[in-house]
Amino acid sequence: MPSVLFHPDHRLWLLRGATSAYAIRLAEDDSVRHVHWGAVLTLDQAAELPERVSPAASSFEAEAGVDELAVEGGARFGPPSLLVRFADGTRGVEWRYTGHDIDGGHLRIHLRDRHYPLHVTLNYRMHGDGDVIERWTNVENRGDDAPVTVLRCDSAAWAAPHRPHYRMSHLVGGWNSEFQVRRTDVPVAETVLTSRRGMTSHHANPWLAVDDGTACEDHGEVWSTALAWSGSWRISLHRDPVGRTTWTGGFGHEGLSWSLAPGEALETPVFAGLYTANGFGAASRAWHAHVRAHVLAHPDETRPVLYNSWEATGFDVDEAGQLALAARAASLGVEMFVMDDGWFGGRRSERAGLGDWTPNPDGFPSGLGPLAAEVRRLGMRFGIWVEPEMVNPDSDLYRAHPDWVLHMANRDRTEMRHQLVLNLARPDAAAWTHAWLDRLVAEHAIDFLKWDANRPFTEAGWPGHEDPDRLWIEHTRSVYRIMDRLRADHPGLRIEACSGGGGRADLGILARTDQIWASDNTDPVDRIGIQHGFSQLYPAQVMSAWVTDSPNVATGRRTPLRFRFHVAMAGAPGIGGDLTTWTQEELKESAELVAAYKRIRHVVQHGEQHRLRGDGTLAGVEYVREDEHVVIAWCPTRAFGHTPAPLRLAAVRPDAVYRDLDTGATYPGALLLQSGLPLGLPPGDHASALVRLRRADQV
Ligand code: DGJ
Repeated sequence: MPSVLFHPDHRLWLLRGATSAYAIRLAEDDSVRHVHWGAVLTLDQAAELPERVSPAASSFEAEAGVDELAVEGGARFGPPSLLVRFADGTRGVEWRYTGHDIDGGHLRIHLRDRHYPLHVTLNYRMHGDGDVIERWTNVENRGDDAPVTVLRCDSAAWAAPHRPHYRMSHLVGGWNSEFQVRRTDVPVAETVLTSRRGMTSHHANPWLAVDDGTACEDHGEVWSTALAWSGSWRISLHRDPVGRTTWTGGFGHEGLSWSLAPGEALETPVFAGLYTANGFGAASRAWHAHVRAHVLAHPDETRPVLYNSWEATGFDVDEAGQLALAARAASLGVEMFVMDDGWFGGRRSERAGLGDWTPNPDGFPSGLGPLAAEVRRLGMRFGIWVEPEMVNPDSDLYRAHPDWVLHMANRDRTEMRHQLVLNLARPDAAAWTHAWLDRLVAEHAIDFLKWDANRPFTEAGWPGHEDPDRLWIEHTRSVYRIMDRLRADHPGLRIEACSGGGGRADLGILARTDQIWASDNTDPVDRIGIQHGFSQLYPAQVMSAWVTDSPNVATGRRTPLRFRFHVAMAGAPGIGGDLTTWTQEELKESAELVAAYKRIRHVVQHGEQHRLRGDGTLAGVEYVREDEHVVIAWCPTRAFGHTPAPLRLAAVRPDAVYRDLDTGATYPGALLLQSGLPLGLPPGDHASALVRLRRADQV
């Protein structure tokens, strides 16, 4: 059964996923209108559905339905998805349908303006194995004399069906506090989620879920969407006073404009949408499955346990110090040793050296060769930190090329962390950047790059360029191109996306990286909430999580080693503490915990994830793969000294029996579902448990 169907009499298209359907129709004026996004329908049923017209038409409001890509023009007053201005000053678009084609699960609807040579294609793609619909837009100036100014070009607009209430869920935060879930009523207003920073941002993540206010983890309809873009972006959610809720999203923020020369085309990133009927948990699992099947390059690969030197050394980096850490890391069972910031140029602090990508001669008198060789001799792979988009003004690179940074005439160059942003939209800066990365990776057979970016854009100008706002698109595309080329030329290379922690997490970066450093905050108590938010969209296998020193460097909180490990084990863990100060007991316990992780990681990284909530203070996650279950539970603080109730599991079968692989205890599934798994948590704060269960038998 093809996943895209067309009904010529009704000029209606139906996209069918595994458990959902999406229908759109060509209106009389050739606008593409939204019809349905929800439960599965047949083509004939969809053809019977009415359009969502305004129930309050008057001389102040047209009856017209909801556009799939709203333009300026006609009686449209909501947030536009596509805003253009032609050379004669005319704004807006009047549509003419020119045809469509269907290629497997990919539908292209071709439109053009009735008068001007502007051609637009609306793309819809389903992969046949789930319910995610990928949507994007192509615009092309097919004229031969005048440019077209594009003031906004979103990837897609989405609409929730009529419900008495609407609620939105989104992710907010800041440095050290990323991915906090916010769930609030959708106001009758326009609500904008955005990044104007040139990066995805810590402050808002391009994920938005809408429900009617009744959905919870395991029931209720959820319409969720995610933008695959790692630069500035905007999603505008509009709940109108007559009960319609729609949202439009794409790259760039307000106030930018792009000039399309004759013959030039622009393609937006994907804005993907997903309808699920069984709550936020089912939505997350469907997104995780989509990310694995259609976004990640190496979903079946198991992420290694890594060591990262940042919290141990800061900028005090040299060969002897790294070797000492590497020896200890290897003895714990670590599989990848990653040397962080401070290894190059004159980089002894945040103030200097960024951009000078040759090993610091004092710290590495014989270059990186001896360290890389010793790391490998110890049985680990070798990774290294880079920040290719940035430069310290106090660097040879900046002294040679002060014009390579984002800047504007007659404006200060605002420094943040004493650094400026290289304009990688410039072909010369991009070629130079690719060349040093390629050399570095080739020379030392680097296995892993931690690709960092520690500040947002400011004074984002490109003096001398005729269309300078292009850099907001082209910088990000250039980062993508460099990563793609490095990966193609060095097939063993794996990349971790980082922007001062979780400032660059999105489906665009995940298409060319393997994991994401979710936050610089490694305090396990804070991390539980950060990881909870991260898991709404991103699967556990891409979530890098380190075990660091206690007290924690960010919060000063003291926590037991076991608790720190158990929190990190919910993703792809690493160790980031100063191992030279850990006691023999701590090292021994760490080695045991690393070994314990290796016993569960095939389930954590490749299984399905179910978030669990206990009675207030207890949180946990259950991972399932075939007949294996892993439960990790955390009790950050034991309120009133009360013993937490057993943790109810979510993904066991009531008619099966489950055996604890470590203690041999058995539990009927019905008991695990209804009264919960006894965890035997020790008294006090920062208690945690790791339980491995296997389905043993039918009762
Ligand atoms: C920010 C990252 O998030 C940290 O892990 C570390 O790599 C520092 N940058 C280094 O400058």
